[in-house]
Amino acid sequence: MGTPLTIADLKKRARRRVPKMFFDYADSGAWTEQTYRANESDFGQIKLRQRVMVDMDNRTLETTMVGQKASMPVALAPTGMTGMQHADGEMLAARAAEEFGIPFTLSTMSICSIEDVASVTTKPFWFQLYVMRDRDFVLSLINRAKAAKCSALVLTADLQILAQRHKDLRNGLSAPPKLTPKHLWQMAARPFWCLEMLKTRRHSFGNIIGHAKNVSSISSLSTWTSEQFDPRLSWSDVAWIKEQWGGPLIIKGILDPEDARAAADTGADAIIVSNHGGRQLDGASSTIGMLPKIVDAVGDRIEIHLDGGIRSGQDVLKAVALGATGTYIGRPFLYGLGAMGKQGVTLALEIIRKEMDLTMALCGKRDIKDINSSIIVGRQ
Ligand SMILES: Cc1cc2nc3c(=O)[nH]c(=O)nc-3n(C[C@H](O)[C@H](O)[C@H](O)COP(=O)(O)O)c2cc1C
Repeated sequence: MGTPLTIADLKKRARRRVPKMFFDYADSGAWTEQTYRANESDFGQIKLRQRVMVDMDNRTLETTMVGQKASMPVALAPTGMTGMQHADGEMLAARAAEEFGIPFTLSTMSICSIEDVASVTTKPFWFQLYVMRDRDFVLSLINRAKAAKCSALVLTADLQILAQRHKDLRNGLSAPPKLTPKHLWQMAARPFWCLEMLKTRRHSFGNIIGHAKNVSSISSLSTWTSEQFDPRLSWSDVAWIKEQWGGPLIIKGILDPEDARAAADTGADAIIVSNHGGRQLDGASSTIGMLPKIVDAVGDRIEIHLDGGIRSGQDVLKAVALGATGTYIGRPFLYGLGAMGKQGVTLALEIIRKEMDLTMALCGKRDIKDINSSIIVGRQ
């Protein structure tokens, strides 16, 4: 296998390096996975406008997301159990993002803790919050994120109940993972992954174990995770979260213009147009399909970001052209991580940056801030 040139190349490598149940955990959507697929394929329908004989020298992708500098309009999305794609995965990805000059978002359901990530980074990262029934625990998470100097809080709105992913059920994957002979066999088939895992003590949810009430062991953690996601979460809770946090707030999981208006009413700083990477409501529209409607509804009131299905720099550019000022990648960085550790995350980011830069040039633009719908000729 030569040097990976695309995110698809990294995915192929990750499949060979990561035990099946964890690779499948990343590469899965809810039920029929049609929304997962649509997120990716709907980008392909958008056609770019080729321009020639314009000065394409001295290009820049630099931008800001919630007022914070980013070397390109891409952040790493929060992903649970990232430390199972590669040992200490969140710490490695956070360092790759920092070196690249883009935000890293740590999931509540990470393997490495907030403090672990803070200990290996020198610039602020972002923290993603799931709201649990135990609000004292939620408050302690917010306070730990503040103490770690996180510079934005990403409140996830679309996973208070968990949709069904057939691959996870078939693989017997639970949260946290419980080892069966089948799992041990899958791990034994991935010796490099095992060797790295043996070198770390981080094998369970680092933000929860030893922090949440009565959760000190793996078995109590499993009951806790199944009972704690709070299905009563509603817009009225956002004011309390905003007040406790006191910094930039991003609401993630918006796919409908009416919800986008409600999110803007909360005074949040940004929304992420997202369907959780097709992992929740299967049959929902792709994010890129819904973006124009959401931009029409609230584009003049709140910063709009997007995730879901981005597999190239061209996809990022299309999202920016349709009105997103920032994007996030989930699986592309997980594949990089699974394939090659920190170096693979950097490679995923380099692939995306290069594609974005070249595409911008071939569309006759030099500055990402000048990208708008004029670079799109239509949909086919
Ligand atoms: C393996 C995996 C785990 C995820 N875990 C979380 C999570 O803990 N919190 C969250 O807000 N979103 C989570 N997401 C959703 C991502 O933040 C993001 O919305 C999605 O991955 C974007 O789609 P993409 O993977 O096609 O880039 C997860 C996604 C994946 C693939």
